Amino acid sequence: MENIKDIIKEKYGLIAGQTKEENAPSCCGAVSCGSIVDYSVFSESYDDIEGYNPDSDLGLGCGLPTQYAAIQPGNTVLDLGSGAGNDCFVARALVGEQGYVAGIDFTETMVEKARANARRLGYTNVDFILGDIENIPVKFGVVDVAISNCVLNLVPDKVKAFSEIYRVLKQGGHFCISDVVLEGELPQAFKDDAVLYAGCISGALPREQYLQIIMEAGFINVDVKKYKKIELPDDLILKYIPESDLEKFKTCETGIFSITLVAYKPEGCGCGCSCS
Ligand SMILES: C[S@@+](CC[C@H](N)C(=O)[O-])C[C@H]1O[C@@H](n2cnc3c(N)ncnc32)[C@H](O)[C@@H]1O
Repeated sequence: MENIKDIIKEKYGLIAGQTKEENAPSCCGAVSCGSIVDYSVFSESYDDIEGYNPDSDLGLGCGLPTQYAAIQPGNTVLDLGSGAGNDCFVARALVGEQGYVAGIDFTETMVEKARANARRLGYTNVDFILGDIENIPVKFGVVDVAISNCVLNLVPDKVKAFSEIYRVLKQGGHFCISDVVLEGELPQAFKDDAVLYAGCISGALPREQYLQIIMEAGFINVDVKKYKKIELPDDLILKYIPESDLEKFKTCETGIFSITLVAYKPEGCGCGCSCS
């Protein structure tokens, strides 16, 4: 799995050097452009959102996790796979001066870009940390709210990722994550394509499996806030299946969905241990 992580880092390293417009034909989603794929089919508009900083928006999200995250003034928020800092700066507007926001990302140039954005905005309570979501470099039980936007599908070991999110949350803390999940089975050719993996499609899990992993990590009150089918353009699909199968593929139950969901770490940690 290190190889797939290297591919992801290389790809997002390149994307970090580009603007949202330059990235439009580039990444997590659908419109093919050479060997890479377009995120814009997934992204939501941030235009009217407090704290939105267009320079930090590389158009890489697939939802609006801060919309349902119930972030309160003074909270400690952790953004997993923070990219150029887009959701961190929205979260920063919600936590205010007394709160704290950290973003972690394993792509060095993304972290540098996010730090430069924070410096330019003059924020002293927003940090960006280089680190892997499978081993979050944060202590046990210190985070009020974890957020993430279109990242977990890229993480090979999702069981480890959700157990790490559980570990860093305070008792009674929660996460709000926007991500990509599947209904039905994707053609094998999609799955085999590492570029599609890095483009947030073939690394995505079936919805039921995704929810199962979250519940098995110990989370409770799992609540899907938004669920939207992503329509892939024909030219992308046709890269992977013959034209004769196109209609069947488009009308079958198989699909790619953007999901935004909330879940809670129980008070008392729900594990029968001391939780100290
Ligand atoms: C699709 S982009 C989303 C960026 C950001 N959340 C946004 O909405 O703009 C995915 C980001 O997750 C990071 N990433 C992917 N896998 C990761 C992992 N295992 N640990 C930390 N960061 C990861 C990538 O480096 C990239 O910046």
